[in-house]
Amino acid sequence: MRTDGFAVFANPPRNAGLRTRRFLNFFMTPSTLPGQPHIHYANGQLQVEGCQLDTLATTYGTPLFVYSRASMLAALAAYQRGFTGRKAQICYAMKANSSLGVLQVFAQAGCGFDIVSGGELERVLAAGGDPAKIIFSGVGKTRHEMAQALNAGIGCFNVESEAEIDVLNTVALSLNKVAPISIRVNPNVDPKTHPYISTGLKGNKFGIAHERTLAVYQHAASLPGLTVVGIDCHIGSQITQEAPYLDAMDRMLDLVTAIEAAGIPLHHIDFGGGLGIDYQGDTPPSADSLWTKLLAKLDARGFGQRMLMIEPGRSLVGNAGLCLTEVLFMKPGEQKNFCIVDAAMNDLPRPALYQAFHAIVPLDQDKQAQSGSPVYDVVGPVCESGDWIGHDRALGVQAGDRLAVLSAGAYCMSMSSNYNSRPRAAEVLVDGNQAHLIRQRDSIADQMRGEQLL
Ligand code: LLP
Repeated sequence: MRTDGFAVFANPPRNAGLRTRRFLNFFMTPSTLPGQPHIHYANGQLQVEGCQLDTLATTYGTPLFVYSRASMLAALAAYQRGFTGRKAQICYAMKANSSLGVLQVFAQAGCGFDIVSGGELERVLAAGGDPAKIIFSGVGKTRHEMAQALNAGIGCFNVESEAEIDVLNTVALSLNKVAPISIRVNPNVDPKTHPYISTGLKGNKFGIAHERTLAVYQHAASLPGLTVVGIDCHIGSQITQEAPYLDAMDRMLDLVTAIEAAGIPLHHIDFGGGLGIDYQGDTPPSADSLWTKLLAKLDARGFGQRMLMIEPGRSLVGNAGLCLTEVLFMKPGEQKNFCIVDAAMNDLPRPALYQAFHAIVPLDQDKQAQSGSPVYDVVGPVCESGDWIGHDRALGVQAGDRLAVLSAGAYCMSMSSNYNSRPRAAEVLVDGNQAHLIRQRDSIADQMRGEQLL
């Protein structure tokens, strides 16, 4: 029995020939493969754009992350369509995937960046991003990071607490600079997502309480080291419904009205990121249809021509990437069957952290599960039972076969680690039928760099 939400063709005929098997496989494939059309089967082999993944796995080894440039640009275009005729700046939330080659794609497409650390700032600059289009979010900016960002000339600090306002003012004055700021509002709206990635509720550590916002703006506007330029909010991640966005927008606009009535003009309204993607038949609104509705609200309240900013991460890269892995051993057991692969929780931490689902498909379409195929837990080599990539997956593969873990473009490589002294994986960016290696696999020397014996 399939338990992973894929359509299964019941009772396939015995001894089905190759052509019939291909036909059946059509029905065994997720009804829409996350990442289609850029990730697709051609002649029975999984491809990213024009590159066959089996060839990439042979060339670069596994585990290997592979991304589609066209898919990232198509996701960006959906937002751009939504903002046609408006003043808008899309700031890619680079925590989703901060590899330099990925940042370069978005910098060349004219994006700004949402950063949360001095390290992310350095990465944007190294990838050719424009500092003036950088916004700096995060609840715990250090004085050093504030100075680094002021010296780079970033566009805006998204301030998250009253204490941070005073420290930023001091740091700016010590550098003879004025820091452009926006206050991140916590609108107390439930984004209806996993509790670990819900950020706009009263009990979350993020932003300044809705009720305190006006007073805090008045204080900020009185400080000589700061200049108020905007307002922002971000209510969570992997949001698949429109209602939380519409509610948060209403609450934000009430505040914009009150703050401007108090004589503090706001140049921009930043509405954060958070739009979900399809992992397992999820149906989030498309970026353009969501923004059509949000813009209708902005228009109705007279803010339609205001400068708008957004901070999408996952929705720009999540379904543009996958992780290739090779089956090491099949390990049937009394209570559970295990399929042990060479990728692990250090490469793909989302299942262990959030019980997240990622679709797992074979590179060879003929090896897709048939009705009655055994069910396995797909697990990695790391020494803990939390190291799993997929539970209860029907598989038709054997040791030596290769699998793709889908929807792995966001929050996988950027959250990967060297746990168990495993090398961090290599990454390839595909552009048409060209594959660019954008990160080499860690060497042992990479892993030990900076360490020394007593
Ligand atoms: N802006 C701010 C201030 C954020 O904190 C985040 C994400 C974003 C924008 C981008 O959100 P997105 O569009 O990607 O949903 N590691 C988790 C997700 C953590 C999200 C943290 N903040 C996961 O794998 O699901």
